[in-house]
Amino acid sequence: MNSRRIGNTEVSAIGLGGMPMSIEGRPDEERSIRTIHAALDAGVTLIDTADAYHLHADEVGHNESLIARALASYGGDTSGVLVATKGGHLRPGDGSWTRNSSPEYLRSACEASCKRLGVEAIGLYQHHRPDPRVPYADSIGAIRDLVDAGKVRMAGISNANPEQIRQAREILGDRLVSVQNQYSPAFRSSEPELALCDELGLAFLPWSPLGGISRAGELGSRFAPFAEVAAARGVSPQQVCLAWLLARSPRVIPIPGSSRPETIRDSVAATELQLDEDELAVLDRA
Ligand SMILES: NC(=O)c1ccc[n+]([C@@H]2O[C@H](COP(=O)([O-])OP(=O)(O)OC[C@H]3O[C@@H](n4cnc5c(N)ncnc54)[C@H](OP(=O)(O)O)[C@@H]3O)[C@@H](O)[C@H]2O)c1
Repeated sequence: MNSRRIGNTEVSAIGLGGMPMSIEGRPDEERSIRTIHAALDAGVTLIDTADAYHLHADEVGHNESLIARALASYGGDTSGVLVATKGGHLRPGDGSWTRNSSPEYLRSACEASCKRLGVEAIGLYQHHRPDPRVPYADSIGAIRDLVDAGKVRMAGISNANPEQIRQAREILGDRLVSVQNQYSPAFRSSEPELALCDELGLAFLPWSPLGGISRAGELGSRFAPFAEVAAARGVSPQQVCLAWLLARSPRVIPIPGSSRPETIRDSVAATELQLDEDELAVLDRA
């Protein structure tokens, strides 16, 4: 599979988003493990997760533990797989998402993620979402300290605006390697953040690249040009969407969520789909 870079690490141009395997509507563990193994078989070397990808209050880190088990039970070499996790969000178990980005909390969350993933240092640790009760500089300062303490190899931020990206860059310097923001045909307002990532040389990981778990299946009916290009190419609208995202910038590394082997295999094939200028222009306007 084609590769792209996150910091000093080469990863597959399409990653696997772990969220659908751990939140509302998740499948049983056997299917999730098959999905992760299918991703690895297809050459995926980036898996996105978070401690907050769980359903009930007493299973924090459900998705991290699942990924750790899937990697451990995989027959092949997984040493080149970058597991990117996040801290700063919590799920109290009532379906809501709350935040805590105090330095003390982030330190303990990172420690717990290390344990669940079975690693000394997390490959890519992303600050999940700014917490209005905590100065952003304090939260990002905590992430810097985690890198300096050897608990984190590379740092990322998520749900950050251009001002926050610049601030994080100032605090983290070269330790900052990626930004993860929402971006899809349905949600294009992260263009300024993407442009800034291009300028600063940061990887840009679009989240919910297909429109999110509940709407990914409707992508073709909501955005007709994606369905039209897909029909002409004999591929799925979702695959066209991921190829379009890859064409936006060499910094883009989509992380489509998946809970079935078929969907992640289909998504990975987007790395081989070269859209031409006319197709891209039509999709840009869709
Ligand atoms: N940083 C943040 O705040 C944040 C927020 C949301 C998500 N994320 C991350 O971003 C990842 C992706 O976002 P998402 O999972 O919310 O939404 P998404 O990737 O837009 O959509 C996920 C859904 O798309 C379906 N799908 C995937 N590939 C497909 C294909 N080739 N053809 C047809 N359907 C396909 C999957 O269906 P099946 O389940 O049937 O396989 C899955 O449930 C998450 O998993 C998570 O890692 C981060």
